[in-house]
Amino acid sequence: MSEIEVELTAVPDDCDAAGSVSHAAFLRLFERARWEQLRRGPGVDVFERQGLWPAVRRSVLEFHAPVRPGETLRFSQHLTHLGRTSFTLRQNARRVADGNAAASAEFLFVCLDRQGQPQPVPEDVGRFFSARASSEPVDRVTVNGVSLAIETRGSGPAVVFIHGFPLDRSIWRHPLDTLTGFRRIALDLRGMGQSDAPDLGYSMAMYADDLAALIDALGEDRVVLCGLSMGGYVAFEFLRRHRARVRGLILMDTRAEADSAEGRKARDLLVTRVREQGAIAAAEAMLPRFFTAGVPPEIIQSIREMILRTPVPGIVGALTAMRDRPDSSPLLSTLVGVPTLVVVGEEDVITPPAISRAMATTIPEARFVEIPGAGHLPIVEQPVPTTRAILKFLQSLR
Ligand code: MLT
Repeated sequence: MSEIEVELTAVPDDCDAAGSVSHAAFLRLFERARWEQLRRGPGVDVFERQGLWPAVRRSVLEFHAPVRPGETLRFSQHLTHLGRTSFTLRQNARRVADGNAAASAEFLFVCLDRQGQPQPVPEDVGRFFSARASSEPVDRVTVNGVSLAIETRGSGPAVVFIHGFPLDRSIWRHPLDTLTGFRRIALDLRGMGQSDAPDLGYSMAMYADDLAALIDALGEDRVVLCGLSMGGYVAFEFLRRHRARVRGLILMDTRAEADSAEGRKARDLLVTRVREQGAIAAAEAMLPRFFTAGVPPEIIQSIREMILRTPVPGIVGALTAMRDRPDSSPLLSTLVGVPTLVVVGEEDVITPPAISRAMATTIPEARFVEIPGAGHLPIVEQPVPTTRAILKFLQSLR
């Protein structure tokens, strides 16, 4: 089903003293767009029919570019989380004239009854927004005999986003939506997300060669690589094998060292548990260490669901690939001519900031950014400041 896009035109009343659409007006416009989308779908009375009301529990609005009176905005939206009584919608507003992002926002809704008690999300609402979510521009590319799910957005210098373990490309939602002026490419590594998950053949070299073949298939010559944790291990391997193709590097919550003997044992133990119990064993091992204490429960839930969707061969393959990866420390000081950004969540307990700081000191052209209020997944827990740091770095490469 194609996504319903709504167009609304800014009027003088929407604008602040500087003459561009104000924060408050954006909130109003996003709300109008949501109701208009419902009107064209299950109806504006879809909640009322069931004695319910969707209350906004949390909103995050990000401003990207000024909008003047008379300019028309195109609104789109997708569901990023559907719980029992709550759901999160991400909305984007683009200027029709030039296609540039003007603002984006995320709203967490709770369905309340007339007594203010949370109630299950009406089925038709869930179905309506999920149908939109499945219309995300997903593509497939076959590389090295395996079909990979990818998402590409925009045009300009290419940036490739590589997720961590045991996650998928959807962690990059925010930079995919907002980094206009760049061609954003996110893939599901083999074995994860919606990519094929063969039983065998997992190694850092294989992931890196998949990436090189994907970049070829997309007609790109040189790219900026952005790897989170295991994605960083893949980036290091890519640098060893295909260095000439790297224009810049973003290392997020990752480390250069190989696993210690103890770490390798822990990988083997988790492989056994995942084979016996399934993806739940990986969720139980990783989730308690991913976030800060202040993370909203629905974020934990969406990452949990992501891990539970990951095929067992993909999890086992990634664990063995990580266990056997070489030490990338000797590579760091050789990265002359590779502008690098090292990013880390201030409260990351898996790859603590001290590791990232040391990496940034060793890499010749590195800068270092710490993201407050984030653990191991700053792009999920604090998407706005993390994407801002990425954007600043990408702009510096021009
Ligand atoms: C990841 O987030 O990709 C993992 O924590 C990496 C690892 O276990 O070494």
